[in-house]
Amino acid sequence: MAAIIDGKKISQEIKDELKGKVSALREKGIEVTLAVIQVGNDPASSVYVGNKKKACEYIGIRSLAYELSEETTQEELLKLVEELNNREDVNGILVQLPLPAHIQEEYIIKAITPIKDVDGFHPFNVGALSIGQKGFVSCTPAGVIELLKRSGISINGKECVIVGRSNIVGKPMGLLLLRENGTVTICHSKTKDLKEVTKRADILVVALGKPKFITKEFIKEGAVLVDVGIHRGEDNKLCGDVDFDDVIDKVSAITPVPGGVGPMTIAMLMHNCVESVRM
Ligand code: GUN
Repeated sequence: MAAIIDGKKISQEIKDELKGKVSALREKGIEVTLAVIQVGNDPASSVYVGNKKKACEYIGIRSLAYELSEETTQEELLKLVEELNNREDVNGILVQLPLPAHIQEEYIIKAITPIKDVDGFHPFNVGALSIGQKGFVSCTPAGVIELLKRSGISINGKECVIVGRSNIVGKPMGLLLLRENGTVTICHSKTKDLKEVTKRADILVVALGKPKFITKEFIKEGAVLVDVGIHRGEDNKLCGDVDFDDVIDKVSAITPVPGGVGPMTIAMLMHNCVESVRM
């Protein structure tokens, strides 16, 4: 029987731990504060931003919401980021992506001071991760590590295969699994024989953005499967990059969609916000 890795339950545990830390900080006169900037009103972004605000409220983190119009210029956004960089009462800054096409994400990400970059997207933090130094780590891959650890799944010495090489998930996921002494392979759209590689995995992390792409032919008997994808299917149900029903009898453990990796991303963002006080 495959174990279903319960991201909802584990993220709840993390949020409850953080709630205690935040209230202890408040007793010392420190109010943990996150500034969240959204440019335009992309519906998916609005849902994500709303969920982040809700999590802040639950934990007791003060959140400052900046809802800017689609027409905001790059200069205006940079000016706001600079203002927040300089505010002593703001610990974390998050600019929700994607940004409108006329704004270059790269410049905005670089403008956030690394010590407030709770998303872990700034090249300084990415570089720190790659050489094993302290810094903010991208929330989704950090959440995957936490899910595995809290489910009692050891990474040490395991064959870890990642499908997808994005800056936000695939690449930092590789670095984190390596930090935990996994043997890491990252696959992508140009990988020659994908199945041959994924079948080697003891731990397979899938983040390629194609609904139900990974079927039982891609996996080894007893593998641990982590599904980072999320899609709305034709039947209006949410599904991941993994065909859950197809693989369930072959895996030893799997994250469901929804209720797997998704809630962990927000829990790790909250974790980073609390850490930001120390930066
Ligand atoms: N858009 C999709 N995922 C993310 C995320 O983790 N952080 C930010 N800032 N934007 C996103």
